[in-house]
Amino acid sequence: MGQEINSPFRYAGGKFYARKLIIEHIPQHSYYVEPLAGGASIFFAKYKVENNWLNDIDEDLMNCFAIIRDHPEELIARLKDEEATKDRHAFYKNEFRPKTDFDRAVRWFYLNRTSYSGIMNMQNCYWGYGDKYSMRPANWPRNIRQTSLKLQNVKLTSLDFEEVINEAEDGTFLFVDPPYFNTDQDKFYAHTFTRDDHIRLYNVLRKNANRLMFLLTYDNSYEVRELYGWVQEILEKEWNYTINRTDDQKNGTNRKGTRYKGKELFILNYNSVALASMQLPLFSKS
Ligand SMILES: C[S@@+](CC[C@H](N)C(=O)[O-])C[C@H]1O[C@@H](n2cnc3c(N)ncnc32)[C@H](O)[C@@H]1O
Repeated sequence: MGQEINSPFRYAGGKFYARKLIIEHIPQHSYYVEPLAGGASIFFAKYKVENNWLNDIDEDLMNCFAIIRDHPEELIARLKDEEATKDRHAFYKNEFRPKTDFDRAVRWFYLNRTSYSGIMNMQNCYWGYGDKYSMRPANWPRNIRQTSLKLQNVKLTSLDFEEVINEAEDGTFLFVDPPYFNTDQDKFYAHTFTRDDHIRLYNVLRKNANRLMFLLTYDNSYEVRELYGWVQEILEKEWNYTINRTDDQKNGTNRKGTRYKGKELFILNYNSVALASMQLPLFSKS
């Protein structure tokens, strides 16, 4: 039940490349919540605990997770004859009109797997698939089955983060990954995240800080450091990642991936140094 796998989705701003670094800082817990889940790359990468809740305001995303959890074989059957082509991408993006939640999930899955950086804001959703670098349709069934297994008994909702944080059980560990504070990431997501939302997030975390543990990730900025000056630890972290040029929506060239450095703050309301001496079952032995 605790398999460490990859998110089924490509997700802009996802934490795939930072997953090991983040998991090292996660304390023992038996309730796990992601109130701004996106592709939920940390949930999928870590060992699964007894109680899990993934939430994102994007209803299409959460609906796709729910269909993968509850109807994996039907989804696989529906996608069986699909090929990753620019024409099919254009069809799903512009012509296909979903009539059911199942249809919505088929469209979301296909577009996510074949779009530039998995960007699902329809104004910026462009063809961006390359056989060499993207997961091929032949491998989608395996990915859907693994994901479905991991999602069994996981609570999936599409609410505002504030409600989720307020309703989390005492002692819950929250992984909180909002859009950046100072960089406009609205082009990535179907819903905007305003300055007011950042302040709401701060207020609700502060209000619940003595009954919940949280690890919050943010861009390294003066405002964020000021806001969260009261927490236990603010750590500056760096990691490497690559962007494949097959993701280039303009000319689809196959140049090699470009290396970048991710740099963010990890903001923890608990003492992570104490974790080093604990036995963490967050990665199972394999
Ligand atoms: C940086 S992304 C999360 C990426 C994720 N950690 C991953 O690894 O894929 C932030 C997410 O917050 C979601 N979001 C924006 N406003 C929200 C709100 N008010 N309540 C809940 N989720 C929201 C967006 O839809 C987006 O998926």
